[in-house]
Amino acid sequence: MASPKIEVLIPHDEIQARIAALGAQITADYQGRSIVLVGVLKGSFIFLADLVRHIDLPVRIEFIGTKSYEGTTTSGQVQLTKDLDKPIQEEDVLLVEDIIDTGLTLNYLQHVMSQRAPRSLKIASFLDKPSRRRIAVEGDYIGFTIEDKFVIGYGLDFDQRYRNLKDLCILVP
Ligand code: IMP
Repeated sequence: MASPKIEVLIPHDEIQARIAALGAQITADYQGRSIVLVGVLKGSFIFLADLVRHIDLPVRIEFIGTKSYEGTTTSGQVQLTKDLDKPIQEEDVLLVEDIIDTGLTLNYLQHVMSQRAPRSLKIASFLDKPSRRRIAVEGDYIGFTIEDKFVIGYGLDFDQRYRNLKDLCILVP
């Protein structure tokens, strides 16, 4: 079987510059406060690691895990695979996602997190694919808005592979 062709969509340097700007914006917006960054496993781990180093505030890091199912109906189901280690009550929480695609995961996590009574809840996502939305959700801090293409690298996988690519890439069939 021929190996798939990989094309760069957003190069590493461009990603780094955009993340530095996002970190500066977050630092300014939360000035004088501390925040809890909640990374959504697994896709956000590289974005979170880079972003947090551009945030000049006291931060705590938590992780949460989800998986989604496609049922026989059109609506996908989302389930927690890993919960937070510590409560987030009365905290300023920034949920850190790899990509907002259909929006089902984010919609589910917004409900789960809101029930934990944080002081505030905002969303940072490395990528946004608005053309694929099945439910109306929006991020507060978006790295890049992309077209309807399946992307890999910089934390994102295809069948658990390619997360370690430095650039954001497209898998060409
Ligand atoms: P949702 O469809 O917005 O619920 O996104 C669920 C998850 O699907 C995301 O957090 C990603 O991990 C994954 N996903 C969606 N689109 C892509 C893609 O283009 N490449 C890799 N993973 C993706």
